[in-house]
Amino acid sequence: MRHDHLLTAKQLSRADIEAVLDRASEFAADPAAFRERHPELLLALCFFEPSTRTKMSFETAAKRLGGDIVDMGSVESSSVKKGESLADTVRVIEGYADAIVLRHPKQGAAQLASEYVDVPVVNAGDGAGHHPSQTLLDLYTIREKAGLDDLSIGILGDLKYGRTVHSLAHALTKFDARQHFISPESLKLPRSVRYDLHEAGANVREHESLDDVLPNLDVLYVTRIQRERFPDEEEYRKVAGKYSIDAETLARARDDLSIMHPLPRVDEIAPELDDTEHATYFSQAHNGVPVRMALLDSLL
Ligand code: NCD
Repeated sequence: MRHDHLLTAKQLSRADIEAVLDRASEFAADPAAFRERHPELLLALCFFEPSTRTKMSFETAAKRLGGDIVDMGSVESSSVKKGESLADTVRVIEGYADAIVLRHPKQGAAQLASEYVDVPVVNAGDGAGHHPSQTLLDLYTIREKAGLDDLSIGILGDLKYGRTVHSLAHALTKFDARQHFISPESLKLPRSVRYDLHEAGANVREHESLDDVLPNLDVLYVTRIQRERFPDEEEYRKVAGKYSIDAETLARARDDLSIMHPLPRVDEIAPELDDTEHATYFSQAHNGVPVRMALLDSLL
């Protein structure tokens, strides 16, 4: 990759994406074989919001490459609690680490951080904005399961606040994909994302019901309703539980439909699907390690 930071999926060309995915395949084939690759690497993890997968898979990736991590810890236990600004926090941390992985509740936080430091910043989620490293592992998983060209994908759930959706939708414009967005009216894609997709000439449709499109899909990408982003709990309650995928829902799906989810799930996918051929979400999460190894490798 030619870039110093990974802030949004928009900055990634098809060639950038393919280079990372190809490298990730090499790492996935033998993850233990690269311990000597970046022994100097110290990666800073700065998570101002909860995380399990993103944080742990970046940590695992750094260690698999022979490096190590320094962790800011929870906001509660850091100087952020004393009123320190994000700019000051990252300026201090760049003196400790070779790259910064940042998750923050405010949209644009990673962009702002990148303006204050010289080490690479990876946006690991900025509010309802973007989550480009998740997109790379999503694309890796799609490529493995269905291929990235001539793809028919349904993206379901919280398209308004779901940052994984925004990044994935942008990245898919680089491939020959038909994107079907399925959501309640109040959780449709933000206008800015729709505008960008239009500008990129993306092949997109919007639906309220999954039934219309399900039989044609190669991949169904399910998302959690992002409760923590709703300004009004009442609005959340109106849409909570609106979509729930179970064996009955899938009666009209293709046998080779892959169901993906960035996780965590709440009630969007019934556990009865976990042992079916459709369930791709756990291997998707596991793919986070080789993909983030490849990403770190390209940024360093
Ligand atoms: C996602 C996120 O944080 O945006 N989680 C993740 O990184 N895998 C999705 C979510 O929280 O719903």
